[in-house]
Amino acid sequence: MQFTLNGREVDVAAHPMRRLLDVLREDCELTGTKEGCGEGECGACTVLIDGQAVVSCLVPFAQVDGRDVRTIEGADAQALQRAFMDHVGAQCGICTPGMIMAAMSLGPDPTRKQMQEALAGNLCRCTGYEAIYRAIGEAKRANRRTPLGVESIG
Ligand code: FES
Ligand code: FES
Repeated sequence: MQFTLNGREVDVAAHPMRRLLDVLREDCELTGTKEGCGEGECGACTVLIDGQAVVSCLVPFAQVDGRDVRTIEGADAQALQRAFMDHVGAQCGICTPGMIMAAMSLGPDPTRKQMQEALAGNLCRCTGYEAIYRAIGEAKRANRRTPLGVESIG
């Protein structure tokens, strides 16, 4: 199967009905994408396909043929990652890659409601969400003030 993975053209031989989550972790050795529920309920396995956040545990590998897949390893999300650390938005960390991938779909300076909606499918059992919202808000505002690709916090 040929597709774009984190900006590189790749050709991965895997059964078309395997879960994208498993192909990413086991065949592509990209273990930043986590498995929580395995049933589409927790968001831990969120990746971007053609820029849209999807739960990779529910995506058959066949569906990425010719498409653009981005995982936390290729997310270019340094500002978000740093803000999650600064605000203690990550504790056990299982939800964190999925949270960051879901947050990538938000525009600059999102409202609390926009953040809640974008992360509605992402569950965190540790933080109570407040620290996550603070981290995303700070990172997004900082990105708006600086050129794309330039780390702007810290
Ligand atoms: S592991 Fe995919 S949504 Fe929970
Ligand atoms: S930090 Fe533990 S589930 Fe979110």
